[in-house]
Amino acid sequence: MKIDKQRFESLLELYQQRVNQALEHWLPAEAVNPMTLHKAMRYSVLAPGKRVRPVLVYATASTLGLDLKRVDGAAAAVEMIHAYSLIHDDLPAMDDDDLRRGRPTCHVEFDEATAILAGDALQALAFYVLSHDQQMTQNSAAKLEMVEKLSLFSGSRGMAGGQAIDLTSVGKSLNITELETMHIHKTGALIRTCIQFAALSSDNLSDDKFHALDSYAKAIGLSFQVQDDILDVIGDTETLGKPQGSDMQRNKPTFPSIIGLEASREKTLELHEKALQSLSIFGEEADILRYISTWFVERTH
Ligand code: IPE
Ligand code: IPE
Ligand code: MG
Ligand code: MG
Ligand code: MG
Repeated sequence: MKIDKQRFESLLELYQQRVNQALEHWLPAEAVNPMTLHKAMRYSVLAPGKRVRPVLVYATASTLGLDLKRVDGAAAAVEMIHAYSLIHDDLPAMDDDDLRRGRPTCHVEFDEATAILAGDALQALAFYVLSHDQQMTQNSAAKLEMVEKLSLFSGSRGMAGGQAIDLTSVGKSLNITELETMHIHKTGALIRTCIQFAALSSDNLSDDKFHALDSYAKAIGLSFQVQDDILDVIGDTETLGKPQGSDMQRNKPTFPSIIGLEASREKTLELHEKALQSLSIFGEEADILRYISTWFVERTH
């Protein structure tokens, strides 16, 4: 499939709408007790995020020629984990931010206890969806592997571990390897999960293709967080929908703070090249993934 900007934007919209429908389907209604908790979960998840992770699930599924129905549950599950991570990331005990996706953060709109519980409940709901969705692969071994991947990559050896490194690194000058390790865990791990979800939904994927996709995922997972760090410096709060300068204010080690803006930008371009090289065994069916890598390094929010 040949991709240009217009085609990419229409696919993006299609994938975003698709996951929004799946999220709407799985999230308990506000009228269901406990109402405030359900309201807070919906408030954070359904807020206008980019839906980057579900987009990656769908784009990989499309590259592998899968019916998108088979990955709706996986796409919704990763977005729930992501939304939970953002709610907790914004708490006073963590980054203490008051704006997210252009709206007051969950603990500001509700209260801290509700925000903690909304995160907890979203994490649990993600695993419920993965194990319960009937449209997903019914290959039990593949399903179990998805549960295993999500638990590993979002836990202390993945995302939560990366967040722990982030918090203990405040005010410290990490070296580049330590910085990369932090980013690979806190952001890269969940991005890898997205691509593996689509790969695991495919019945006959070769090892070569699996590894190529995983290597692509590692490259874009890191470039995504380097660009996030860059945008904390050069972005603006309105476009970002979150407070610009939050990292600087909190003395967080980031790519720009450690290697400078110019070298950070070069790093994203190197990772973009690496992502493209990883996909060399695919033909134009992977153009959507190539375009996503460009999006990651050129985005302004
Ligand atoms: C923000 O993620 C947190 C990071 C891991 C960098 P996104 O930039 O994907 O946030 P939303 O989902 O669009 O709000
Ligand atoms: C957040 O990283 C990573 C996770 C939520 C796991 P950041 O703290 O840089 O994300 P933003 O900048 O607040 O979105
Ligand atoms: Mg953080
Ligand atoms: Mg933050
Ligand atoms: Mg950030």
